[in-house]
Formats: sequence, C-alpha cells, structure tokens
Amino acid sequence: MALIKLFRLSTFLAVIAALHAGVVGRQCARALGNATLVANQLQLHYYNDSTGQYNNGELWTDANSLEDLHNLMLVTGNDDYHNVADSSYIGKAALDPYTDWTKLLDGSNDDAQWIILALWKIADYKTARDRDGSAYISSAAKIYDIVASQWDDTCGGGVWWSTDHTYKNAITNELFLLTSAAGYLRTNNETYLENAEKEWTWLSSSGMRGSSGLFNDGLELESCQNNGQTTWTYNQAVVASGLGALYAATRNTSLLDQAEVSLNATISSLTYNGILRESCDLVTSDGTTCDHDQQIFKGIWTKHVQYYLDNVDDTSRITKYSDFLGYQHSGVVNYAMNPAYDVGSVWYATNKGGSQWSPEASTSGLEALISAGKYGPC
Ligand SMILES: *[C@@H]1O[C@H](CO)[C@@H](O)[C@H](O)[C@H]1NC(C)=O
Ligand SMILES: *[C@@H]1O[C@H](CO)[C@@H](O)[C@H](O)[C@H]1NC(C)=O
Ligand SMILES: *[C@@H]1O[C@H](CO)[C@@H](O)[C@H](O)[C@H]1NC(C)=O
Ligand SMILES: *[C@@H]1O[C@H](CO)[C@@H](O)[C@H](O)[C@H]1NC(C)=O
Ligand SMILES: *[C@@H]1O[C@H](CO)[C@@H](O)[C@H](O)[C@H]1NC(C)=O
Repeated sequence: MALIKLFRLSTFLAVIAALHAGVVGRQCARALGNATLVANQLQLHYYNDSTGQYNNGELWTDANSLEDLHNLMLVTGNDDYHNVADSSYIGKAALDPYTDWTKLLDGSNDDAQWIILALWKIADYKTARDRDGSAYISSAAKIYDIVASQWDDTCGGGVWWSTDHTYKNAITNELFLLTSAAGYLRTNNETYLENAEKEWTWLSSSGMRGSSGLFNDGLELESCQNNGQTTWTYNQAVVASGLGALYAATRNTSLLDQAEVSLNATISSLTYNGILRESCDLVTSDGTTCDHDQQIFKGIWTKHVQYYLDNVDDTSRITKYSDFLGYQHSGVVNYAMNPAYDVGSVWYATNKGGSQWSPEASTSGLEALISAGKYGPC
C-alpha cells in the first residue's frame, strides 16, 4: 500500500514538474497522469512476479504490455517500472544468450515481431538511463533473422503468418515492413532497408487493401486474392508506423500520404462518435464479443499512430491526428475505466455488456492514454 502511494506521488510530482517546465500542456499531463494510474493498476492486478507474465495474458500481448511500460517511462521521464523487464519471462529469455528462440516463438511470425518491438523499446529505455541494453538488441536481431527467413515467392512474396505456411496475412507483413525499416534506422544495415522496400512493394500491390483504404485480414491462399475478412483497427496503424519508418529512411513523402490513407480510413470507417470501435465491440445476438487478441487491437492502433508521428517531421501532418487521439483519451477515461483504474475493452460508449476486463484491455487503454499524452491536443 505504501509502495502504491509512493508510485502515485512520484507520478504526480513528475507531471507537475513537467507542467512547470512547460514541457507538457495541461490536457496531455492529464492523459499521462491517467496512463500512470492505469499502468500501476495493470501491474498490481495482472502482473505475476513469479512467472514474469500477466495472469490471463498471452505471449504477444505481454510483449505489448512490457513495451508500453517502457514507452510510458520514456514519455514521462519517470522510472516506476525500471526493474520489470529483466525479471519478466520475455526479458529473461532476451538476457540469456542461449535462448532457443525458434522453440519459444513456436512458429509464430507475428508474435515474434511484437517481441522484437518490445525488446527494442526496453533497450531504448535502458540506453536513455545509461544502462546496458545490448542483450535486448542482440536477441531482437536473432528473432528478426528467423522472421526474415519466412519470406518466399508464394503469392509473389511476403512473410508467412506461421511456419505451417498456410496463410499470408496483413499484420505479419505490416510488422515486417516496420521491423525492417526501423531495424535499418537503428543499424544502417542495408539488408534491413532492402527488406523494407521489398515488403512495401509487395504489400501495396498484394490486394489486401480494399477500395475503402482499409486492409483486410489476409489473402486466400489458392487464388492469392484478398480474403475479405475483418478490417481490424490495428492493421490500419501498424502499416502507418512501418511507412513512417520507411519515410525516415528514404524521405519519400508519398509514403506519408499512404500512411494517411490508412489512418483516415480508420477514422471514417471504424469509429462511433469519433471513438474507435472494433467490430467485435458490438455484442452479437449469440453473445460473441472480442477475444483476448482482439481486446488489444484499438490500443495498438493508437500506439502505432504515436510511432508513425515519431518519424514525421512536419507539424501540419502531426496535428491532423491530435484531436482524434484526444477523443480516445476521453472515451477511455469516461466510458471504459473503472474507479480502480482497470480499463474495459469497449471505449465508444458506456458498457452495455460487451466490455471485457483483461490485461489486454487494460494495456489497450494504457496505449491510448500514452499516445494522447504525447500527441493529443495539449
Ligand atoms: C484523467 O483524465 C480526466 C479527463 O481528462 C481528467 O479530468 C483527470 O484529471 C485525469 N486524471 C489525472 C490523474 O490526471
Ligand atoms: C502466478 O502464476 C502461477 C502459475 O500460473 C499461479 O499459480 C499463481 O497463483 C499466480 N500468482 C498470483 C499472485 O497471481
Ligand atoms: C545485416 O543484417 C543481416 C540481417 O540481420 C545480417 O544477416 C547481416 O550479418 C548484417 N550485416 C552486417 C554487416 O552486420
Ligand atoms: C515513393 O513512394 C511511392 C509510394 O509507395 C512509390 O510509388 C514511389 O515509387 C516511391 N518513389 C521513389 C523514388 O522510390
Ligand atoms: C487525411 O485527412 C486529413 C484531414 O483530416 C487531410 O488533411 C489529409 O489530406 C488526408 N490524407 C489523405 C491522404 O487523404
């Protein structure tokens, strides 16, 4: 209990200091204040010190939660979660040079890349605090090579979703665009840049993006045509953060226009009263709601808008999305958050029965608050 009070006090002091320094405007400070309360509750409610995992979580969503704690510490400047990474299941694997990543990843080429992103963010945090992040960087490089080997010519190119080689889908390839372009920015290694260019060339002509500008889930394997499956929110922003990173590497502004096509289509098609709404946020007649994977998608959209904007050096492009990020802060705080600072999965309206409570849903809300804190209307 005393520890919790200390956490919260340090947060308020950090936010007040930032306000006084003129670094963070009032509304953004509120978003970061809420983000810290939600992050503290995520750790208290779900994080399991003995397993280093989130109770009721999954490998890939745990990777996102760890990434977010470090993203938050980088944005606020505090160190509330400085010892989580090294004691987490994923962190311990990253610190062990003998980890068998092929075995741990179990053939999943999308999960692999969420882990790369988490390891990079942890390393960035450690580097920013003058600590050694090199083990995280070298594990990320090993995982990247495993994923890169999963590219082949079926349907003209692309990385397989899993080592079963039964599906080529949007998220795995959007992630490969991002990990390749961002990997190049980190290393200057041309192999990464070649992979990023190769991926965008293939992805942009794969047919997975429909006429509305939204990416569907993936390709029909026999015909190599768009399979018409769900246009999940996260698919529309991971591509944008990949394009933002490729823009930073090439300075080709058409890539930013392409990113805006996806972000704008999300805002016009996947929202209700200005707030993101996943198709599964609507309870269906048979009671079906979002599953654990789907409960984190909207937050990933907001996080990858942040990552996209991190690479955009044009203020007029950045401010286009400020108000929208601010609306997500309102939706999460007013509709989804409970008095204990857990966040439910439905943001667009007060809970009518479809809201799910899980580490994924709390992490999703946390991501919305961090991006509003960084790029919302301050
Ligand atoms: C959380 O956000 C709400 C709405 O903007 C704001 O009124 C409140 O002060 C924020 N909480 C914190 C701790 O900053
Ligand atoms: C941590 O996880 C283990 C294994 O799933 C479980 O037995 C234990 O109850 C959990 N601890 C807490 C505090 O939730
Ligand atoms: C560049 O990256 C590729 C892919 O990870 C790796 O195989 C290669 O060894 C790297 N080259 C150098 C010079 O580091
Ligand atoms: C810039 O990106 C656009 C959009 O993908 C592409 O069509 C164009 O060929 C690229 N230009 C150069 C010089 O690579
Ligand atoms: C996206 O929407 C913004 C305004 O909301 C607009 O300025 C921009 O031109 C749009 N981008 C594209 C590529 O349509």
